Amino acid sequence: MDLTYRPRRLRRTHSLRAMVRENLLSPSDFIYPLFVHQGSQEEEIGAMPGAKRWSLDNVLNEVHRAWGLGIRCIVLFPKISEDLKSEDGSECFNENGLIPRAISLIKKELPDMTVMTDVALDPYSCDGHDGIVSKEGIVLNDETIEQLCRQAVVQAQAGADLIGPSDMMDGRVGAIREALDDEGFAPVGIISYTAKYSSAYYGPFREALDSAPRLDTRKVIPKDKSTYQMDPANSREAIIEAQLDEQEGADILMVKPGLAYLDIIYRLREESELPIAAYNVSGEYAMVKAAAQKGWIDERSVVLETLLSFKRAGADLILTYHACDAAGWLRNQLD
Ligand code: PBG
Repeated sequence: MDLTYRPRRLRRTHSLRAMVRENLLSPSDFIYPLFVHQGSQEEEIGAMPGAKRWSLDNVLNEVHRAWGLGIRCIVLFPKISEDLKSEDGSECFNENGLIPRAISLIKKELPDMTVMTDVALDPYSCDGHDGIVSKEGIVLNDETIEQLCRQAVVQAQAGADLIGPSDMMDGRVGAIREALDDEGFAPVGIISYTAKYSSAYYGPFREALDSAPRLDTRKVIPKDKSTYQMDPANSREAIIEAQLDEQEGADILMVKPGLAYLDIIYRLREESELPIAAYNVSGEYAMVKAAAQKGWIDERSVVLETLLSFKRAGADLILTYHACDAAGWLRNQLD
């Protein structure tokens, strides 16, 4: 055939492919999530093989391991014991609570590791919601934000570098920014869960934290989070959220979940000059793990291909439970 263009010319050898590769993964792109709990032993998490609930004693080893693999940011999630949960989630701003203690331990041991936190009430709420639920079953916006501001300040006091509001209350980024500034934490950043969808992909995470919305006979508890998390059918709304978060002072914008929302990552990349993060959530992780355990897919290749897809869509950062595995594989990657 008389072809002028033969795109296969640049795919012919390893070297040529490496030369024209448009996107690369690096361990410093990753944010590694760690679950912590009160107990003294680490615990397996049923629907998240390979992920664990770490005790404060052994979480440091895992943070060291991540650092050694080139990971430079971790995010902490707490499993709170039942007796500390309440309707207003006020354990979230206990200065001696699990998360502040974990933050200060880690920052003391490895000051250069960036520590991100999650700001929302669900791990601390006996109702299993990110905000305070009224008697009528409404998740209260402004009252919740007061709690979230206290939570963010306590996390900053403990040494957190990046505060991650995941609650989707209106106006929380601005309020948290102001609270941090007022308390002398102007250098602490906000990585906002900007476009967080009301997704069924969070199931395994809610098992890990035992934080799913609860049924209660005393009051009406909304069975899902769709009055505050975004409707999976919408994309223009993500732009509105991004504009508001920028105006309110967010430093990094996050899209969550990641894989089913690559179009949203792409759109935010077009709309904003801020760094964009993708959250490769628990359900996405669980599906890969389950299929790999069955021998139906090759885990290493599928994970690296998936993570690369976030970069290609426009993400700078990827929050993923695969972070340590992927960092290890990248180290040994030839092609
Ligand atoms: C809490 C929070 C959730 C996740 C991160 N922070 C759960 C939820 O909103 O119900 C989900 C993470 C995952 O599925 O990996 N606000």
